[in-house]
Amino acid sequence: MSTLVIVGAQWGDEAKGKLVDVLGGQADVVVRYAGGNNAGHTVIADGKTYKFQLIPAGILHTDTVSILGSGMVICPEGLLQELARTRAQKSELGTLYISSAAHVVFPYHRILDGLEEGMRGDNKIGTTSRGIGPAYQDKVSRTGIRMGEFVRPEMSRARLQEQLTYKNRLIELLGGQPFDFETLHAEYAAYAEELRPFVVDTEPMVQKAVADGHKVLFEGAQGTFLDLDSGTYPFVTSSHPVAGGACLGTGVGPRAIRNILGVAKAYTTRVGSGPFPTEQDNSVGEQIRAQGQEYGTVTGRGRRCGWLDLVALKHACRLNSLSGLVMTRLDVLANVGDLQLATSYAGRDGFPANVWDLAEVQPEYVTLPGWTEDLRGCRHWNDLPATVQQYLEFIEEYTETPVAVISIGPDRTETIVKRPELIWA
Ligand code: IMP
Repeated sequence: MSTLVIVGAQWGDEAKGKLVDVLGGQADVVVRYAGGNNAGHTVIADGKTYKFQLIPAGILHTDTVSILGSGMVICPEGLLQELARTRAQKSELGTLYISSAAHVVFPYHRILDGLEEGMRGDNKIGTTSRGIGPAYQDKVSRTGIRMGEFVRPEMSRARLQEQLTYKNRLIELLGGQPFDFETLHAEYAAYAEELRPFVVDTEPMVQKAVADGHKVLFEGAQGTFLDLDSGTYPFVTSSHPVAGGACLGTGVGPRAIRNILGVAKAYTTRVGSGPFPTEQDNSVGEQIRAQGQEYGTVTGRGRRCGWLDLVALKHACRLNSLSGLVMTRLDVLANVGDLQLATSYAGRDGFPANVWDLAEVQPEYVTLPGWTEDLRGCRHWNDLPATVQQYLEFIEEYTETPVAVISIGPDRTETIVKRPELIWA
């Protein structure tokens, strides 16, 4: 069995897209298991910058099959735009399939996302305004429209009418503008027509690929601490970014999973609201934001930046049963000076389950020497300065999890594979 889950080990934006691109070229199938176009993956390959929100980065490899799994919520308009944009950049793409069980995001979900945020007052989540929460609400309420229904005209018209009657009432109640059914239906029926050829029951395809010993990569979106159950609730997304979500969102059981790599930045960032113990709302945070160009791919918002939180990272290693870590953006920390790593929260054991406790923790730090070297030319472990090696070894020892891959720049080639056996078994 040669299966691999790639999961974000922090609050998202860990540069998973680059890794999925690098490893996607080696995979037969790449299947994304959660979220929607709230995610933003940037891939730099062959001198071009690709921006993905829904499509797995595996699409850039012609021999790889890319799948949008059943755990996703999909905005048809966004997907078609993304496909057109990617096709304009690269004529030869891999094959794409969409799970018939994935849910559709409609414009009323986006409107409700904004209206619900408005109702939250001081407890705003800071969502990406993509309608993700309301679409998953419909899924859990068992009223959502799935891709399989959406692309069948005889079913989709009736279902949309029934849904819109209810959503329009809700929107009006919250002070928004209702949608006209015929206009919305005409627009979305056209999208359904275009997407129909891609929509299939993908679960048996994934199951067969696993059983046949093909290399299957399960691509996560967002990150562990944005998980609906394991994250910093309620400041989370509405899906399951953790490794367990790979089973829920693709149609395989836990025995189908071999290796799990957790991707973490060499520091920490967060977008949106919620506690962030190691946040540096000062010149250090600003320097990291500037050097790392830490602005959201989806919203353009400046990301909150801070030191690496090893208490959180160790917790993520356990929540995901990680085989190994992928440490990214080491290059960004050059010239920041001495580096601090949070190794405990004063008077506490481990990472608290509730946000009100997390909001009060006082991180305790260990200081390690920083580096000034440009790391982007390094290709092997031995090319890395001793200070970088020391930083990574400290992380391995603390988290009790080996570092498998190191990323020292955005390009595919700026990657050091330290433990290949932790990637494909
Ligand atoms: P939603 O997923 O749009 O509902 O947003 C919920 C929370 O998750 C907000 O704090 C967002 O900023 C955050 N979030 C959602 N997607 C991402 C992502 O891809 N990277 C980082 N944060 C995200």
